[in-house]
Amino acid sequence: MKPTDEVLAERRARVAKRWELTDEVVVLRAGEPAGWSGTDQHFAFLPHPDVAYLTAVGSPGTTLAFDAAVGEWELFGPRFTPERLVWEQPPTPVGQPLDELEAWLEQRSERKLIELGAGAAMPQALPVPTASDGSEAQDPANAVLRLSAAIALERITKDDAELDDIRQAAAASTAGFEWVYQHAAPGMTEREIQVGMEAQFYAAGAPRVAYDSIVASGPHGAYLHYVYAGDDPLRPATRTVETGDLLLIDAGAQFGGYASDVTRTMVVGADPTDEQEFLWKLVLSAQQQTIDMCRPGMVWKEVHLAAARILGAGLVEMGLLRGDPAELVTEGVVALFFPHGLGHLLGLSVHDITSIPYSREPSDDPLLSQLGPGRVLGPGMVTTVEPGVYFIDALLCDPARRAKFAESVVWERVDELRGFGGIRIEDDVLVTEGDPEVLTAAIDKPIRIG
Ligand code: GLY
Ligand code: MN
Repeated sequence: MKPTDEVLAERRARVAKRWELTDEVVVLRAGEPAGWSGTDQHFAFLPHPDVAYLTAVGSPGTTLAFDAAVGEWELFGPRFTPERLVWEQPPTPVGQPLDELEAWLEQRSERKLIELGAGAAMPQALPVPTASDGSEAQDPANAVLRLSAAIALERITKDDAELDDIRQAAAASTAGFEWVYQHAAPGMTEREIQVGMEAQFYAAGAPRVAYDSIVASGPHGAYLHYVYAGDDPLRPATRTVETGDLLLIDAGAQFGGYASDVTRTMVVGADPTDEQEFLWKLVLSAQQQTIDMCRPGMVWKEVHLAAARILGAGLVEMGLLRGDPAELVTEGVVALFFPHGLGHLLGLSVHDITSIPYSREPSDDPLLSQLGPGRVLGPGMVTTVEPGVYFIDALLCDPARRAKFAESVVWERVDELRGFGGIRIEDDVLVTEGDPEVLTAAIDKPIRIG
């Protein structure tokens, strides 16, 4: 649902309040399409999410400006020349013509200008200079960081218009996964399954996918981000699904700029083996238990660690690991099989609010601590919960790791499962005052299809 002007005004007012500026001028740019070098073509354009959040406009060039001295916002949108209109349809006209931005800035040229959004000079890492002698405020990168972090803190909590778009994205994803459950079978290629699924996303009204779909069969499930044409965009390979393969599909439709992000893993065309069934149920159990932890006041890092301990205990039970699950997590043994975070915030980007360097460790900086794994969950946040277990050659065949973990990993058993692939189960979860709401609950979780 496109936010009303009132909702947009509320978003802007909350951001301005967090900024606490006095007489600065702020410009947020949506950006321009990236060119494909050596050609006159461009890649598909998506606006900087901060601009999308504050304007609900997605056209390239859209620019939002803020004059802190009077507390007023001004929106500038592109207008096409007649020559350009011969080739391209016009963007929806919004605000003042973009051509007038220069004069608007010129009138305020004595004031400090801070550029956010596309092309902003975001520092790559913490720490940023801290204020002791007043130098902090003068550091341009620091101003970009702090003002962008303030927008991020607003974007973390979704309003009704945003949740409506995420729900619509999830509904389109549901149509795609339903197609997979009905049609995917041994003998089909990963690519055929991907195309059939995505066709349903689009037919359900999604303008685009939220990220490159991962359709990984058999051993390919052990590459966390296995995507079509990831090997070679000119002549991509695809694999034919075999009877009894695990099929890991991590895909999501986008709607109104908002992502959904769903993973299901199924055995295709056969009943699961004992190992497939044990690990599939283990991952599902870890997911269910940690979804239930997505409640106000929980520290996200603790939810992740809980998932890792559950998975570690299962791997011990299965005879792949030896030792106490909590210690196996701390020592990094469980991470050989679960080498990613339990999930991430979801919103205008599938991995939402990741452009800002954040504090990995608990931080007393309120602006930055909420952006990292130490964040405290609150109502209105949407997070994915996506535990997984994988047999990744790059980790399991590494001599240094094998020596380091000789005691805690039963390598003979692990080696028997090389080529197993991976199992991941992922849903999008809204934290509420009450029970967590799974926004992707309509997407079934069959252990076997085909
Ligand atoms: N959807 C892929 C990921 O969350 O990394
Ligand atoms: Mn995800």
